[in-house]
Amino acid sequence: DGVRRRDWIHIAALGTAGVGGAAVIFPLVSQMAPTADVLAASTTEVDVSQVQVGQSIKSVFRDQPLFIKRLTPEEIAAANDVDAGSLRDPETLADRTLEGHEDILVTMGVCTHLGCVPLGAAEGENKGEFGGYYCPCHGSHYDTAGRIRKGPAPTNLTVPDYAFNGDVIRVG
Ligand code: FES
Repeated sequence: DGVRRRDWIHIAALGTAGVGGAAVIFPLVSQMAPTADVLAASTTEVDVSQVQVGQSIKSVFRDQPLFIKRLTPEEIAAANDVDAGSLRDPETLADRTLEGHEDILVTMGVCTHLGCVPLGAAEGENKGEFGGYYCPCHGSHYDTAGRIRKGPAPTNLTVPDYAFNGDVIRVG
């Protein structure tokens, strides 16, 4: 069947690469990157109860950086102060968060220009001119709602599908 055949191909490929001996091969097999179908079905769970107001944390979702931020009242006000219709990728903060959890912003940490990881999720990092995230590769500035405001990125930071279960966010 398909699963058996795939396992055999992994082992055969490692053997061809010159890794000798079953004792060596099997640990390597278990460490191999997940296959595409496994990744596509994977979820990430993050307990956000420890994320302080104004703090962002970095996690990983399907092998890519994931940012989770608890917005301050000032950051929420700044996001809501903007006429969304005037933006390159018109979305309100409410469009980008879950009802009742407008202070929790969940986005991919992947610049929508060419895929660099923006700064701003760690303490002391440059948050850009709009106080959210800044991509140093070609200078894209994202605001406190993760929306593109300046620079070459065509769209806002992607918001993945997620849901709350108490204090735990389940992404995917
Ligand atoms: Fe972020 Fe180009 S990849 S600005």
